[in-house]
Amino acid sequence: MKVLVTGGKGQLGRELRRCLETMRAEIGPIPEVYAAADVDYIDLAELDITNQAAVNAWFDEHGPYDAVFNCAAYTNVDGCEEHEDVALKANGDAVGYLAQACQACGAVFVHVSTDYVFPGTDPTPRVETDEPHPISAYGRTKLVGEKNALAFCDKSFVVRTAWLYGYEGKNFVQTMMRVGASHPKATVVNDQLGNPTHANDLAYEMLVLATTTEYGIYHCTGEGICSWFDFATAIMEGAGLGCVVEPCTSAQWKEMHPESADRPAFSALENRHLAQTCGNEMRPWREALASYFTELKKAENQTS
Ligand SMILES: NC(=O)c1ccc[n+]([C@@H]2O[C@H](COP(=O)([O-])OP(=O)(O)OC[C@H]3O[C@@H](n4cnc5c(N)ncnc54)[C@H](OP(=O)(O)O)[C@@H]3O)[C@@H](O)[C@H]2O)c1
Repeated sequence: MKVLVTGGKGQLGRELRRCLETMRAEIGPIPEVYAAADVDYIDLAELDITNQAAVNAWFDEHGPYDAVFNCAAYTNVDGCEEHEDVALKANGDAVGYLAQACQACGAVFVHVSTDYVFPGTDPTPRVETDEPHPISAYGRTKLVGEKNALAFCDKSFVVRTAWLYGYEGKNFVQTMMRVGASHPKATVVNDQLGNPTHANDLAYEMLVLATTTEYGIYHCTGEGICSWFDFATAIMEGAGLGCVVEPCTSAQWKEMHPESADRPAFSALENRHLAQTCGNEMRPWREALASYFTELKKAENQTS
């Protein structure tokens, strides 16, 4: 089996690698079919996915692949507002190039998208059949990517996730741990609700999905809904930090950071399609976060 992981140095790409190299996720063992997989992990330095000729040349030289996991993206949400044209190339056009290359070699294409394709105005968790309507440049560009994945490759999975955190790279958990270690208090919005998602859990579900033929759109987030304030409070507790978390509203945050993109107020997703097909094994978000801190401590003990 030949596999390609793009965005291999990003937080999700690294978790896919950890799962594939150990044949385990924190949820449990990954499907046996990956035991003999020959995996190419690549990032921007090896291949700029916005260059279609380079994408085709890569597939000609290193393919054919059986499965391609696209974890590469322009993920700076505020940066997308300023550089939507650049973001569109990586989050939209490039997804089409990869999907076409997958179609040509018969590969399954697993592409990752976001809760930001929804406006976040409806206070019930969104399901896969709900109509997207993004309110940010990031969401608009990611929606183009979804459409391209589904239009150009018959064997596409579009997996929408949210509030993602892994062990390396920029994410809310790492940011809060840094702030908590150096500040006595932190102010965090409490009127935006969503589902914190452990990147290792998402990697597991993506690997399982790719072994099925149930192509289509999937929501894949940690179970349970909370605010950023709740999440930050749980992070400080889990990390054993004494930093006091104080709530603020989105309006107050925008006053303090006028350049920041508008974010969905209620961005929770329901993993309905997973439950209907290969099974929704995503853990409750507090359980996944506790497991994250256990793994961090294990890694610390191993290096000390
Ligand atoms: N983070 C979240 O909270 C979140 C929430 C919902 C959905 N998602 C989606 O989940 C997926 C994985 O996100 P992540 O947090 O793991 O992202 P990440 O850590 O930012 O990793 C993305 C990787 O893609 C690379 N990349 C950017 N442009 C590229 C290009 N033109 N060609 C090749 N590689 C390129 C980046 O390289 P550089 O670092 O060198 O630019 C980076 O290594 C993305 O599709 C993202 O949209 C993320």
